[in-house]
Amino acid sequence: IAQAGPDVGTDDCLISYTHIYSPDLLTGQVAFITGGGSGIGFRIAEIFMRHGCDTVIASRNLDKLKEAAKKLSAVSGRRCLPLCLDVRQPESITAAVDETLKEFGHIDILINNAAGNFLCPATSLSFNAFRTVMEIDTMGTFNTSKVVYEKWFQNHGGNIVNISATLGYRGQALQVHAGSAKAANDAMTKHLAVEWGPSGVRVNTVAPGPVSGTEGFRRLGGPKVEVSGVFQSIPMQRAGNKTEMAHCVLFLASRASSYVTGAILVSDGGAWLTSANDVSMLLGIASSKTAKL
Ligand code: HXC
Ligand code: NAP
Repeated sequence: IAQAGPDVGTDDCLISYTHIYSPDLLTGQVAFITGGGSGIGFRIAEIFMRHGCDTVIASRNLDKLKEAAKKLSAVSGRRCLPLCLDVRQPESITAAVDETLKEFGHIDILINNAAGNFLCPATSLSFNAFRTVMEIDTMGTFNTSKVVYEKWFQNHGGNIVNISATLGYRGQALQVHAGSAKAANDAMTKHLAVEWGPSGVRVNTVAPGPVSGTEGFRRLGGPKVEVSGVFQSIPMQRAGNKTEMAHCVLFLASRASSYVTGAILVSDGGAWLTSANDVSMLLGIASSKTAKL
């Protein structure tokens, strides 16, 4: 029961896939996924498309997005539109949302997945480094939600799923920037669920633990974590995988969760309850700004 299903560690589609949900769960819908060209966002796009959804994947690196979109369409037969934006720049979000509405005519789901992170002690963290992560993770989530809401969801309803992290729950060492940013996003989930519920908009969050085959995992320790014994302290004794995260997001983005809003679904194998949180140990696993990750 506690085993992960098969996944692929690179930004490629799954070699085989067995549906858990009805394959037509998202048929006719369009999802706008920030950071959908890599890691967890890529797998969310793939799983959504395997359930009949068309997608927009949007981030800064258009070449990467184009390559991802090709793979995603080939495996699913659905449309995937790659669009360039920086979630810190509202005008670039507005242009991408306008383009999406022109191409597809509607947006049903927004996934706020774009983020930036690195391990760094607070004393080594520059003011600009803290601001940068807050701007990508927190401002980026607000900016994108606001644009999509005002341009479409306000009058048509919709579903927002934010991708958070458990870092702030126990004040994870070397993560004051990302933990603070994600904690703000968790509050934002509740505020917007309350304000936008009457417009038919649900706002929820998935908070992953360590997820293998991702940039986040590599930056927060990578293979060193696997041999460090850290996994032994996780109740489920392993990292999660991208497909497991995508299935949680699919639940919250679909009618499977039609009366759920303002919720934070932790998907971490119980990790935050038990994992080590020791500065010197973490410094040993990874490195700080002096050895850029
Ligand atoms: C300390 C760092 C740093 C590092 C950058 N900075 N990397 N400080 N340690 N490793 C500082 C810079 O010196 C600079 O400050 C400031 O941060 C901005 O850096 P830029 O490179 O100019 O920013 P930008 O080009 O906008 O890039 C943003 C970024 C970058 C976050 C720094 O790494 C990025 O684009 N990341 C996206 C991909 C990513 O991070 N994926 C993982 C998400 S995982 P100064 O003062 O010098 O100007 C995740 C996991 C959560 O969120 C939990 C897992 C369990
Ligand atoms: P990832 O592949 O690096 O995903 C982050 C994405 O965000 C990238 O595709 C990146 O694309 C995009 N992005 C970064 N800055 C952006 C900006 N300013 N504007 C637009 N897009 C931007 O890393 P990941 O590990 O899969 O992380 C995905 C999400 O899961 C993040 O929210 C992260 O915090 C969360 N998470 C991950 C883990 C984990 O173990 N991996 C654990 C907990 C939470 P571009 O470079 O093209 O812009």
